[in-house]
Amino acid sequence: MALPCSPLQALGLCLAQGLAALWALATIAVQVLRRLFQGQGPVGQRLSPLVTDFGFQRQVWAVLRVGLPNFRVGRILVRAYDNNGTALVCRNRDVREVLDRHQDFEVVYGPRMEEITGGANFFLGMQDGPTYSRDVTNMRQAIRRSDPQELLVPLATAWAEAIVRDGQGQIDLPRQLGAQIPARIVQEYFGLRGPRREELIEWTTLLFWYLFVDLAASPELRPKALAAAVQLQEALDQEISERKICLARGGAKPADDVLQRCLEMQAIGTPGMDDLGIRNYLIGFVIGAIPTLSAAATQIVDELLNRPEQLAQAQAAARDGKPGEFEGYVFEALRYQPLNPVLYRRAVRDSTIARGTWRAMTIPAGTMVLASNYSAMFDPMQVEHADRFWPGRPWHDYIFWGYGMHTCAGAYINSALLPVMLRPLFCRPHLRRSPGAKGQIDRGTTPFPTHLALCFDAE
Ligand code: HEM
Repeated sequence: MALPCSPLQALGLCLAQGLAALWALATIAVQVLRRLFQGQGPVGQRLSPLVTDFGFQRQVWAVLRVGLPNFRVGRILVRAYDNNGTALVCRNRDVREVLDRHQDFEVVYGPRMEEITGGANFFLGMQDGPTYSRDVTNMRQAIRRSDPQELLVPLATAWAEAIVRDGQGQIDLPRQLGAQIPARIVQEYFGLRGPRREELIEWTTLLFWYLFVDLAASPELRPKALAAAVQLQEALDQEISERKICLARGGAKPADDVLQRCLEMQAIGTPGMDDLGIRNYLIGFVIGAIPTLSAAATQIVDELLNRPEQLAQAQAAARDGKPGEFEGYVFEALRYQPLNPVLYRRAVRDSTIARGTWRAMTIPAGTMVLASNYSAMFDPMQVEHADRFWPGRPWHDYIFWGYGMHTCAGAYINSALLPVMLRPLFCRPHLRRSPGAKGQIDRGTTPFPTHLALCFDAE
């Protein structure tokens, strides 16, 4: 972490930040004007591509970090979960503070989690307490810390290599690789073997969207998500009952997967591990695994394709770099296009953040706080060389998997799998976008990348 160590350095950093913000403001104005004068259709439609443009977002954060780092508006922006207004927080320290103070800023996902499970909450929707601790502890036993390296990396390495080889010089990245590998992990490691991979991808995409991305509470999405939830529940019920019948009949030795470990914990009377509990745990993990890894893998590649020099270095590192070198490119690219640019929490009580600084703000109870981890990762007050693409930067600079109590339970899996999923592709010579629109990320009707066609020289 690079903090200025003398008042003079601090002043220098503030000045540099101010100049960068002015430059960002000018860039924003140019982009907005260009869209307004060159685009077609209503103003909103002309400007909307900017909202999802990562480069544009970075410019906006750079201006806000300097001019308006913490502010509140009376308007409700998140309609999916109860709240009475919105606060935006974008300095690194303040984002970490909000996410750390889980007693004051609560997770909100409980109501939709309960709709999806058909009753019970899942731990990302829970506040701190005995049930949360029990559930996290249970799943840490079922999903062991050593599993990513010992079980998942060998599997994903072989699958990714086969997918890229079979592509013979072409691949639609999210569809053929990004979503396929986590879907196979759900089948073979988590143990949900019944549904086809395409079904798992479709259900989890709808459910993740409904839980975390549907901020406007779309009436069209809800029935589709709830139908997917029922299908996922039924598939898990069936899997659990088949395993138990097989076990009772003394069938073949079961596979060592997460579901089987949960059933073994049930057999010794572990609290929380009844059939419904196991189903709910797996619902939460399966939803967390597929669209996330797929989108992150696609966005990493997209970012590197935008940077020819770094793409060439990443390819060299993938082929014969030192241990950890290729990983440095993967995660630095993800900093530029993270999966969740903003995490949100609701103020439980009136709470002051950044106390003792000029940007201190009291957030009234009921306010939805949008804490931008994306902005935090580019905050030069805490992040060294924040605006430089720096592979291998200190890991502490990254806030990809959340922060504090609800930090991603798949964090070790993500860190191990993303490089492994992508390495075979980067080892192929002349990796490039397919010509035309096909070679750009297409999100279809979803918020996630669904297509990105690439070419490479087949070996
Ligand atoms: C690149 C892929 C992934 C990204 C970027 C990601 C990101 C995140 C983030 C930001 C959070 C915190 C949300 C918040 O605080 O509001 C989170 C939580 C969580 N994630 Fe992930 N995730 C990924 C993959 C996975 C995978 C593969 C799994 C399952 C194997 C998973 C399971 C979970 C669970 C269970 C939680 C809740 C943890 C808790 O409440 O204690 N995620 N994830």
